[in-house]
Amino acid sequence: MTTTPTTATRTDGGAVFMNGNALRDEILAELKAKIDAEGNPEICLATVLVGDDKPSQIYVKSKGKKALEAGLQSRHVGLPGDIAQADLEAEVQALVDDPTVHGILVQLPLPDGLDAEPVLDLLPPEKDVDGLNERSMGRLVRGKAGHVPCTPRGVMRLLERYGIETSGKKAVVIGRSTLVGLPQVLLLGRKGADATVTLAHSRTADLVETCKDADIIIGAAGIAHLIKAEHVKEGATVIDVGVSRTADGIVGDVDFDAVQAKAAAITPMPGGTGPMTIACLMENTYDAYHMINGTTPA
Ligand code: GUN
Repeated sequence: MTTTPTTATRTDGGAVFMNGNALRDEILAELKAKIDAEGNPEICLATVLVGDDKPSQIYVKSKGKKALEAGLQSRHVGLPGDIAQADLEAEVQALVDDPTVHGILVQLPLPDGLDAEPVLDLLPPEKDVDGLNERSMGRLVRGKAGHVPCTPRGVMRLLERYGIETSGKKAVVIGRSTLVGLPQVLLLGRKGADATVTLAHSRTADLVETCKDADIIIGAAGIAHLIKAEHVKEGATVIDVGVSRTADGIVGDVDFDAVQAKAAAITPMPGGTGPMTIACLMENTYDAYHMINGTTPA
């Protein structure tokens, strides 16, 4: 386990500021060095975006840009929001069949009227760099090799980087999405991480009671400023995965100003878990290349 970087900055209240932008840049630089050392093989991430949702366009553009920074290739497939389900599936199948594509990401959510499930299920586990379909999730549950969803993987990387002990600790994950909450529970509770994990959600009867003894709180409910000082034990680690669009702009699940005065470590929003999702997508794509070729990473 690494220790808290001596250069870590602290919030006004003294909490370690878990800097996702800085860690993302470290991870991308490490990936680039590995790919250089392997003679710069062409490793390609394909992104699929259906429709013209502005935030999704921004996320996907950023994924393409960061892929290039990490020494990967990126291919973008933009499709109209009124595409037929069968045509969308044919586009994704073409990427599955293309040997020059190693990782495929279908940006979610899809526009109304399209069903994501059969689209995701087209992806073989090796190319499912989002780790979101039932085969990848099954592998995670069964402890088999496969891609782990990027956001919860990014949370685990932040915890490791900042030397936050998970073994024997009480963790509460708030939110039960397949994108974050469910895989996050598995990652924190599995052998090696060894946390004792509680899964809370919007119907949890008393969230303060559930959180107030936790050593680690992960907010992934998508409810603006749900987690306040009263939820947080003195010295806890608080990680914000929530994204809510409000009249005041984009805010997370954590009321940062109030919570940072009690927490020992906290992620900002933005600049915490978001960049880590992108970094882990690039790591998964690099791993995909080696899985497909049966080779060993540098
Ligand atoms: N939409 C928001 N986050 C994600 C993600 O991690 N993967 C995909 N595919 N869509 C998303």
